[in-house]
Amino acid sequence: MDNFVINGGHELFGEVNISGAKNAAVAIIPAAILADDLVRIENIPQISDVQLIIEILDRMGAEIKLVNKNTIEIDTSNINYQSVPYELTSHFRASYYLIGAMLGRFYQAEVAMPGGCNFGVRPIDQHIKGFEMLGADIDIVDGMVCAKAEKLMGTSIYMDVVSVGATINIMLAAVKSRGLTIIENAAKEPHIVDLANFLNSMGADVRGAGTDVIKIRGVEKMHGCTYSIIPDQIEAGTYMVAAAACGGDVLIKNVIPKHLESISAKLEEAGAEVIEYDDAVRVTRFKSLNKCNVKTMPHPGFPTDMQPQMAVLLSVANGTSILSESVWDNRFQYVGQLLRMGADIQVDGKVAVIVGKPKLTGVTVKATDLRAGAAMIIAGLVAEGTTVVEDIAYVDRGYEDVVEKLALLGADIKRVEVKEEKTVQSVG
Ligand code: EPU
Repeated sequence: MDNFVINGGHELFGEVNISGAKNAAVAIIPAAILADDLVRIENIPQISDVQLIIEILDRMGAEIKLVNKNTIEIDTSNINYQSVPYELTSHFRASYYLIGAMLGRFYQAEVAMPGGCNFGVRPIDQHIKGFEMLGADIDIVDGMVCAKAEKLMGTSIYMDVVSVGATINIMLAAVKSRGLTIIENAAKEPHIVDLANFLNSMGADVRGAGTDVIKIRGVEKMHGCTYSIIPDQIEAGTYMVAAAACGGDVLIKNVIPKHLESISAKLEEAGAEVIEYDDAVRVTRFKSLNKCNVKTMPHPGFPTDMQPQMAVLLSVANGTSILSESVWDNRFQYVGQLLRMGADIQVDGKVAVIVGKPKLTGVTVKATDLRAGAAMIIAGLVAEGTTVVEDIAYVDRGYEDVVEKLALLGADIKRVEVKEEKTVQSVG
């Protein structure tokens, strides 16, 4: 496994291109199972989570052609629902989308219980409730989720919690069911809308994605299409926070500025300037940073997947900030790493009190999960001296060409090979 070695203290200047959205790609690629013929998907990020879902489909019998670095063609006509490889799916959170997609196509699915970044308990009760309401029987046997239905019938499903994964999974299972499915209290994240657009391009009838009521009228057949994945909101936000934390002037290109509004608002409150263009945002920061309070919320609130990165910025802002996590029970595991760099953060349950310090100091830290890894990189860029970030396989699961992109902005960051082998469990 490699480490990142970062010599901090440089402002960032220049342009960065944002890749396709990880959390859209890991839903859209398995959704190709629902089509009867060839699907071409463009703007796929080259990250290890995406390589994993492609490998899973390949092992299940799909024909996959890599057209170029960011485009694939998938033909799932010969796919087999029984050959979902346990060793690949059991550690991969988004593998649960195979349940919805396989159920939609074959009325059966057998997929390992998903793993995922450890943010506390990660139940799938809302997914199961949705599948059962559509008419499937669900059993959990020896770590496998076994779903079976004679037929799937549209119905009205009220989600007890706002869940991205459950909303997506119910959409996947419902697009070919009979009649009308209504998902109430649905998640509204940009990748929900992207998945709905993809499904509609394949002939589905999904309306209301992006609001909290999604209506899906079942169709009998779905066909191939060509589709381009939206830009990654969280990758864009990560570069925005990096620019604001380090200072400088960075144009973040290939983004949908509307998806970034909650992040832009907080960066402006903290003293950065954010200018929106049609498909880019420019972040500049030349004066000192101010405290601000941030609370994570489902979309359109401030994304939980930006919380660790924001904690780094607030660690070097003037004054005391309150950072509240309202999506996950346990998403402050990275804080211990920032304390080692000199940050002053106290965590009480789902709230962190961050007292800004004039500087952080480079030491060796670990990426404890994907976004925590991104936060460690930003901390290294801001800190005085040299920071070594370990366990960076987490970062590789969600950020395409992170070293190259940051180096183009003037950061002093390298990937350095280390001999000892470690394995990283899961992400997402
Ligand atoms: N929840 C339930 N029951 C369920 C499902 C969820 O109680 O059946 C709870 C969870 O415990 C959590 C909340 O609902 O407290 C939200 O969970 P959600 O289902 O929305 O999360 P997810 O679908 O498992 C996705 C992203 C995460 C991101 C969350 C929240 C993917 C592959 N993962 O997870 O992304 O944090 O939504 O926005 O889309 C990341 O990219 O780094 C990442 C962790």
